[in-house]
Amino acid sequence: MLARALTATVIGVEAFVVEVEADISFGLPGFSLVGLPDGAVKESKERLRAAIKNGGYDFPTHRITVNLAPADIKKEGTGFDLPMAAALLAATRVLPQEVLDRHLLVGELSLDGRVKPARGVLSVALTAQKHHFRLVVPHENAPEAALVHDLEIIPVTSLADMVEILSGRRQPQQVMVPSCPILQEIPDLAEVYGQEHAKRALEIAAAGGHNLLFIGPPGSGKTMLARRLQGILPPLSYEEALETSKIYSVAGLLSPRQPLLQSRPFRAPHHSISDAGLIGGGSHPRPGEVSLAHNGVLFLDELPEFRRNALESLRQPLEEGEVTISRSALTVTYPARFQLVVSMNPCKCGYFGDPHHPCQCTSQEVRRYRNKISGPLLDRIDLHVEVPAVKYKDLGAGRSGEPSREVRKRVEKARLRQKERFGNAQRLNSHMNNLEIRKFCALSPEGQSILEKACQRLRLSARAYHRILKVARTIADLDASAEIRPPHLLEAIQYRALDRPLV
Ligand SMILES: Nc1ncnc2c1ncn2[C@@H]1O[C@H](COP(=O)(O)OP(=O)(O)OP(=O)(O)O)[C@@H](O)[C@H]1O
Ligand SMILES: [Mg+2]
Repeated sequence: MLARALTATVIGVEAFVVEVEADISFGLPGFSLVGLPDGAVKESKERLRAAIKNGGYDFPTHRITVNLAPADIKKEGTGFDLPMAAALLAATRVLPQEVLDRHLLVGELSLDGRVKPARGVLSVALTAQKHHFRLVVPHENAPEAALVHDLEIIPVTSLADMVEILSGRRQPQQVMVPSCPILQEIPDLAEVYGQEHAKRALEIAAAGGHNLLFIGPPGSGKTMLARRLQGILPPLSYEEALETSKIYSVAGLLSPRQPLLQSRPFRAPHHSISDAGLIGGGSHPRPGEVSLAHNGVLFLDELPEFRRNALESLRQPLEEGEVTISRSALTVTYPARFQLVVSMNPCKCGYFGDPHHPCQCTSQEVRRYRNKISGPLLDRIDLHVEVPAVKYKDLGAGRSGEPSREVRKRVEKARLRQKERFGNAQRLNSHMNNLEIRKFCALSPEGQSILEKACQRLRLSARAYHRILKVARTIADLDASAEIRPPHLLEAIQYRALDRPLV
């Protein structure tokens, strides 16, 4: 007797429909599983046997063959338990085949027949909707599946529950999308006293999507400032929220209480993080921090402490907005378009250039410390900002600064100008290529002469030249100006702290 059930496998963040065929034939009892299953799927056999028996059904005592098709894509994870059990139950006529043909099923089984949550259900739900299937999901995953419009969802708690519902003897439960968002505490810029220069740089970074580096002595507020970028970025659009939530779903990090991400992610991994943790990977590939920061901020605090390899591997996502992970059996791609913010001390002891503290480092040590982050990574950071120690006068005065929501209003206006320029809300000044720079960053003769002089005097590279133009474009947008004028340019030139030679 042959039967089939449908499910989906997630590769990267996309789900593909997979057909589970189960055949029960006479012959020596046995169970073979074919069709490129991975280790986790192979283990299903034992769980299936126990779950079906403990659910109160007969487990076939004949020869069982289960095939996963198409055979050329790797089947990964534990979500195949439920569709395999369904196919076997259809083969033994417990479930009607014609009902299974209209459903996509996903879920892991425990030995007693309970259905446990699976990863990547949001991606599976989008695929189910696209192909007009009804979706059978573990009860815990129902809220994330419910984010997808025009999709009928059947949450199940156990194998027996699924059989009762699919046989029409029990009504499925209604799924509620949690409607009240959990308010996340995002620190406010008003808590930072003084540091107007750094705050302004933060606003420019938010407006144009520029990567940003803070450099300054210990305790000057670098970490504090960086953590406040999230609060001045524009809110996520529904499409962006769905895109990022899909990544969290695949990583198994989506909360049933709040399945749709409400604010831009802010990820701050510790410097001891592994390459796989940062970029993604592992034997069962999972998205890394760069993907969890998709449409948000990746903050690397104490940059020189990160291993060089890890920093080098940031090049691909910074350039292409995605990461590709290759393993022997499969290659997956995860989205990874994030804004990078990094912080560092100017030298090993932290006080190089501080007028109030003598620096203990030799100039060679300072150079060696900075060389840890030289090259490709630094190339991709538009704004280098010096954060000096806070003045006691600023701290003592206790005057709080402008609140984040005021700054965010200006950021949103500047982003609107960019949307008109590029015809695409996702494209920002920081993403401009050389052609676009030539088109949108034309300078007056006066501007040209200012930039030329600056490049000579500060010995700036051609690369720095382009970065200055992009930043100047954003500053002009914040100023609601169609042209880049000399004050915009002069301000942009200030944000090249690390391009200047050490003195
Ligand atoms: N401008 C400021 N306004 C208010 N508080 C500040 C300011 N700067 C620093 N602080 C206080 O000092 C503490 C340390 O700041 P923070 O951790 O951001 O420094 P840092 O520059 O990251 O130092 P390190 O180089 O050691 O990492 C903050 O928690 C805050 O209490
Ligand atoms: Mg810090």
